[in-house]
Amino acid sequence: MAEEKQTQANTKARMDYLYQEIPRLNQAYYDEDAPLVTDAEYDALLRELQQLEATNPQWRQADSPTQRVGGSRLAKFAPVQHQAPLLSLANTFSGEELREFAQRCEKLAEQPLSYVLEPKIDGLTIALTYENGRLVQAATRGDGLVGENVLENVRTIAGLPKQLTDFQGRLLVRGEVYMPKQAFAELNEQREADGETVFANPRNAAAGSLRQLDAAVTASRRLAVWLYDILLLEGAEWPQTHQQALAWLQKQGLPVIPEVFAGDIEAVVAQLAPWQEKRHRLDFDIDGLVLKVDNEQVRAQLGNTAKAPRAAIAYKFPAEAVETIVLDIQVGVGRTGVLTPLAVLEPVWVAGSQISKATLHNEDNVAAKDIRIGDRVLLHKAGDVIPEIIKALPEKRTGQERVFVMPHNCPECGTPAKRPEGEAAWRCPNRQCPARVREGLEHFVSRQAMYIEGLGPQLLNQLLAAGKIKNAADIFQLTMDDLLPLERMGQKSAQNVLDAIDKARTRPLGALLAALGIPYVGSRAGRLLAANFPSLQLLTAASKEDLLAVADIGEIIAESVVNWFADPDNQQLLAGLQAGGVQPQAEVVADKPTEGPFAGKVVVLTGTLPNLTRSEAKAKLEAAGAKVTGSVSRKTDYVLAGAEAGSKLAKAQELGIAVIDEAAMLQMLS
Ligand code: IVH
Repeated sequence: MAEEKQTQANTKARMDYLYQEIPRLNQAYYDEDAPLVTDAEYDALLRELQQLEATNPQWRQADSPTQRVGGSRLAKFAPVQHQAPLLSLANTFSGEELREFAQRCEKLAEQPLSYVLEPKIDGLTIALTYENGRLVQAATRGDGLVGENVLENVRTIAGLPKQLTDFQGRLLVRGEVYMPKQAFAELNEQREADGETVFANPRNAAAGSLRQLDAAVTASRRLAVWLYDILLLEGAEWPQTHQQALAWLQKQGLPVIPEVFAGDIEAVVAQLAPWQEKRHRLDFDIDGLVLKVDNEQVRAQLGNTAKAPRAAIAYKFPAEAVETIVLDIQVGVGRTGVLTPLAVLEPVWVAGSQISKATLHNEDNVAAKDIRIGDRVLLHKAGDVIPEIIKALPEKRTGQERVFVMPHNCPECGTPAKRPEGEAAWRCPNRQCPARVREGLEHFVSRQAMYIEGLGPQLLNQLLAAGKIKNAADIFQLTMDDLLPLERMGQKSAQNVLDAIDKARTRPLGALLAALGIPYVGSRAGRLLAANFPSLQLLTAASKEDLLAVADIGEIIAESVVNWFADPDNQQLLAGLQAGGVQPQAEVVADKPTEGPFAGKVVVLTGTLPNLTRSEAKAKLEAAGAKVTGSVSRKTDYVLAGAEAGSKLAKAQELGIAVIDEAAMLQMLS
């Protein structure tokens, strides 16, 4: 009897262990892209738990990882043999080398040629197969001969049709999966706030997101794709030029690479200089340009070398790294308590702006790169946005440099910091830490959250210092009498602030959720939650299972939301917000209207509108069921044109497409 009890206790302990261990392994695998055990070891643990649950149902936990939808890990992606090797490109670095390339091509083709110049997207090659109009395969490049089928993940990419409407043949098309700069910056910001390792650049982030075995994680990462080459076409005539090929793809509703230029070689070379600056204005990272012979017959005639086609070549931008000095390393405290070392730099210009600070992410990164105070370092912008120290230049040391030591107490409130096992970050655990409160409030009022215009960091600081606010709820109790005595605050600006606060009372629920600082809940998750639980009451009452039932909400977010709403301090904050008149509006559910003048219509925006920003106009059109695309084709139903509309307007007129202005659009919407 005693023995049996002992065995039972062991079984229970083993199950408890597995209930902790498997989610930990899942998180490392799915979210950090850093597996802790092999697939076989993981599968063995999961199987063991399944067997223990079957024989001991009394100890089974409702949120068991064995019940996770789609939770059984695929061993790996299925290999795909490419129809023809996916080649690479030879590199050049100057206009002169491009001229030499053109000479070679024209000599082989025995005729003068025209060329197409495209941006060289810094992402990952993808080869898509459409059969009978349906997307049936998405293969990574792999070693060029055999790649992996990441179809389920690619299917989550917004803007990529899973079904073509007008083409029922067979199409193989090559392109590049990438992460938009903005999405990359936001993803890293969130990861840093959560104490996770950050991605070094959008390319790594895209790679880490595309090769997720859980498509829901990919879906949450906002990947995008540009297509640039037809590899095989059956059931339609092969276009005669590359430009026509791109136009044909576009006509099928596929996302075709933008910013394409065509001309003779001199016209192309003249484009190189403007591109050095223009590249920074795009929302995707490019590492150069690709020059292609336009004539498809000549492309076929020129054929391939072992590695690359003869009729295309890459032009790589000169590396944009600059040298500067680390004047100091300071430690900042974020709203979630993460302590982040920050390099204070001698100001330098890089990729279009002046930089005087660069995050060093965490102590491991500083140590791995051995960056010391006083070091000369190489600096660039990761993904063209985030200043990043590439490396220290130890050969330039004078001996005066100082090794950085991460403080083990919060630099702001002195509380002993903690570095949880498995995390890269030290955290200040004090929720009242002035830095955490300040950063949390800055986040709360920011554009992507409650968007309280005029209530910036400076004013928040003054209000905190004057004791007028202690938390987000206090903002909604502010009066004219609180604001007027503050420095540089007149009647009019005070009224503007109060008006902005009032406007925020009815911000969408998704924005409020993003504002609250719930770990892992940013704008996107906020909107998703709000669309499924349209009030704070419903969300407070939601169980982890209820949350998991929402597509794209996984274990980590669900758990974080449940914990946040269960916390008495947070409940008090919500009560305070309510007392301050905050009444978040239910999210407009993404169900597209099927009626109305814009339902199912394809609309292109061009030029500057008199009142609305482009994104406001886009949101209105999309809410009315329209699809807003980037370029005018025969499929376009309306072109919404504002001041200084350029070639898109001309093209619309050429194709006889209806052109409307903002007033007409608003009238159609009303
Ligand atoms: S054409 C046969 N066009 O650059 C090669 N490639 O360095 C056909 N890339 O592996 C490639 N943008 O993944 C082409 N507009 C573009 C591109 C592009 C990015 C990538 C592609 C290729 C790599 C070569």
